Amino acid sequence: MLDLKEYGIKMWSEDRIFSFREKLLNWYDENKRDLPWRQTRNPYHIWLSEIMLQQTRVDTVIPYYKRFLEWFPTVESLAEASEERLLKAWEGLGYYSRVRNMQAAAQQIMTDFGGQFPNTYEGISSLKGIGPYTAGAISSIAFNLPEPAVDGNVMRVLARLFEVNHDIGIPSNRKIFQAMMEILIDPERPGDFNQALMDLGSDIEAPVNPRPEESPVKEFSAAYQNGTMAHYPIKAPKKKPIPIYLNALVVQNKDGKFLLEKNENEKLLKGFWHFPLIEVDDFSQEEEMNLFYQVSEESVNFGPSPEESFQQDYDLKVDWLDYQFDQIKHVFSHRKWHVKIIAGQVNDFHEFKDKEVRWISPKEFSHYPFAKPQQKIWQVYERTYLDNGRQ
Ligand code: ADE
Repeated sequence: MLDLKEYGIKMWSEDRIFSFREKLLNWYDENKRDLPWRQTRNPYHIWLSEIMLQQTRVDTVIPYYKRFLEWFPTVESLAEASEERLLKAWEGLGYYSRVRNMQAAAQQIMTDFGGQFPNTYEGISSLKGIGPYTAGAISSIAFNLPEPAVDGNVMRVLARLFEVNHDIGIPSNRKIFQAMMEILIDPERPGDFNQALMDLGSDIEAPVNPRPEESPVKEFSAAYQNGTMAHYPIKAPKKKPIPIYLNALVVQNKDGKFLLEKNENEKLLKGFWHFPLIEVDDFSQEEEMNLFYQVSEESVNFGPSPEESFQQDYDLKVDWLDYQFDQIKHVFSHRKWHVKIIAGQVNDFHEFKDKEVRWISPKEFSHYPFAKPQQKIWQVYERTYLDNGRQ
């Protein structure tokens, strides 16, 4: 057992812990948010909610959560779902490895646990994609086991309650908060205790503009009492995502269909359909290159332009349109995409046999999983196309 004193944390007396639990749970009973996954003890439903909520806000999650359970009402149906349907169910939520891992875990439940959701912390932790936070949340909420569920919200609340001088962004510091929670957690109502801290952390104790005077446990909070709220939690600023510059080639054939391909290679957005994308070093260099071509007769090898690369790669002769499209930006956790649209039309077309490349009409788009950047590209394309007077 980790010694909290070594980390500069003085744990409360038993009496104080009892009265903290009581205050927090009374507040939760009066104020808890009415969320669909709070009306069930079904571990599959609770698991789904916890995975969806990991990187996504509650309001966004609710409709996805309901639809997912309509499409895949049981662990078995999730285990058997096609890749396309699975990605479609998660389309727009991002962090798609979450749903792939869920399917792998559903298959594990079918094969290793005879179709029964495991009901111990160890069993739950053995499932793919379930780390200590999710295992704690499912154990406590679905099975009433006294297991902490320590996420960023909970660490922030605890950091302020105890003035914890350790960075909550450093993964190895999580064990400090885990040890605190093992002492604090209410053994009778662990699921409600965990969720009360989550609710507190996502609203009254939010990262920005907290309202500490409204906290039901402000009398317990060292940071509130000492006027040090602004210093806690300790958290170093995040690194900036790396910029990636891409050209999206939006090419339409004479049937009004667009060339789309399935991402089979890249880990990021694997399995999604998108307009062909061609990466460049950055756009300023590309502009310099255009200028150079305009003023110089010399032949300098800058490599092929995105248009040329596209025509070679797909063996198509394209009439490029000279519309000005807005640039698209999309931030992933470690990368920021800057996407320029280049649009064109082809008169003749051929089918692509060996690759997952197809001509697809906009009416059929709803059958294909599209990730956020692809949706943004399509919106900008459509708007610009209409602005230029085409139907
Ligand atoms: N965030 C993650 N899990 C949650 C839950 N069970 N209730 C509310 N917010 C959450």
